[in-house]
Amino acid sequence: MPTCIGVVDISAFILLICIIARLNSSRARGYLPPGPPGWPLIGNALDVPKTGAWKTFAKWSDEWGDIMTLNLLGQTVLVLNSSNVAFELLDKKSAIYSDRPRQPVITEIMGWERTIGLRRYSPTLKALRKLVAQKIGTRTALQDLSIHLEREALSFLWRIMSDPKTLAKQVDRYTTASILRITYGYGIKEDNDELVNVVKRAMDTFSIAAAPGAYLADIFPIMTRIPAWFPGAGWKRQAQTWSTYFTMMRELPLKYSKEQLQAGTLEPCFVSEYLDGNDNLERENLIADAATSLYAAGADTSVGAILAFFLAMMCYPEKQKKAQDEIDSIIGNDKLPSVADLDRLPYVKALCWEVLRWHAIAPLDSQKMMYVRAILSPRVTIVFANIWAILRDRRLYSNPEEFNPDRFVPSDGYEPEYDPRQICFGFGRRKCPGMQLAQMSLSLVVATTLSVFNISKPSVNGKVVEPLVQFTANPISHPLPFECDILPRSDKAMALLSSAFGSPV
Ligand code: HEM
Repeated sequence: MPTCIGVVDISAFILLICIIARLNSSRARGYLPPGPPGWPLIGNALDVPKTGAWKTFAKWSDEWGDIMTLNLLGQTVLVLNSSNVAFELLDKKSAIYSDRPRQPVITEIMGWERTIGLRRYSPTLKALRKLVAQKIGTRTALQDLSIHLEREALSFLWRIMSDPKTLAKQVDRYTTASILRITYGYGIKEDNDELVNVVKRAMDTFSIAAAPGAYLADIFPIMTRIPAWFPGAGWKRQAQTWSTYFTMMRELPLKYSKEQLQAGTLEPCFVSEYLDGNDNLERENLIADAATSLYAAGADTSVGAILAFFLAMMCYPEKQKKAQDEIDSIIGNDKLPSVADLDRLPYVKALCWEVLRWHAIAPLDSQKMMYVRAILSPRVTIVFANIWAILRDRRLYSNPEEFNPDRFVPSDGYEPEYDPRQICFGFGRRKCPGMQLAQMSLSLVVATTLSVFNISKPSVNGKVVEPLVQFTANPISHPLPFECDILPRSDKAMALLSSAFGSPV
């Protein structure tokens, strides 16, 4: 008899596990599309790599299709692997796909919930996006600020000519300098700039805290209630310290602008358009949050795009030559291209589009959430748009691995391929509000660089070194460090650059 009870117990136990697993899977799936099977309770958590998950998702889509459901530790996740489904859900139904999931450590403890990118969808978010849209959201609005880009681009070229081996450092300097000037009217110092140190330190802590799986408390938010003094709560004490870095990043540059405004010396910039010296606290908070968001979201992304351009030029010299021929014939060799000239350079424009397609800078669109109200369906679902996969979807792009700007150049009987800007800047109501600035900045660097420099593979002892075309697997992806040769195209180009920068040859 006891044996019989044992068998019944075991059978009941197995049945219970099966019911839980089944319930778990029906909860996870609900009325949602199918996806790879996972383990009971933890679902697909062990199968999704911590970094570079977009490649795994792309592989799975061969079997599960353009839209699939995953279960990550009980959290339902939808992955969108084609432009059609991304537009269908994120654009057409943007009302329910515009939120961000809770990441309590970085947002609530470290304070980054004030930035546009990490804010939950709300009237304040809409107000912040409106501030950005009005001043940098269109090319017309940007015209007044484009002089800052031209000044910083010239400084970039001069520094590259002086020391071509410091490319990565100079790209970083250019994006930091141009965004701080456009946002706060602040010109960075030659070395060891205090404000640059402040924003970089905050961004460094952001990168650590925003990495997937950085905190258990993001998965179990109840842990954020643990007091900071509690043994084992070192992560909370650290996050609290890091929140002061965010506060400094938000407050110090704005303090500079306010002082300059009072002294009557503030250059035209994003905040100068809004600050009038009599702002109430609520309004000033809004301006501070919008301004902080520009550096937070705009600097690292632009670095990725410009470095990808240099890498592509080295690998595809014939495309470089074609763009240079266009610049020579339309602009000539007596001046550097300016922002006003960019519209006259269709091949350079196509080349910039191809940079944005060839290397997905934000490979996995930030998470969005929807609320599903059907019974048995999960209440909240996180949605990832796999930008990396969509930008190399063979239904949109022929030979997607190849860098080929010509795919965007219309000609008799040839229909250009799909505009990648509709994909790489995200979708729906959270689409990148800095996309016009990002394109203007990239195109200006591309046009001015190609007008005065040749970019080529480096040589060691007379032997050409083939570059590795590889990219980091971070949420904001850059090319892996690479060497390249950057040489002036001619003495005339050098003289032009020197006279434009105001220094002797
Ligand atoms: C090539 C450069 C850039 C790329 C590829 C890029 C791409 C993106 C993507 C994919 C998103 C997420 C959109 C979504 O969730 O649907 C985003 C958000 C954002 N971007 Fe950009 N971006 C770039 C440059 C910039 C620049 C220069 C700025 C501003 C100066 C900027 C400001 C923002 C902000 C504030 C958000 C958050 C929007 C929100 O959550 O509502 N970005 N960007």
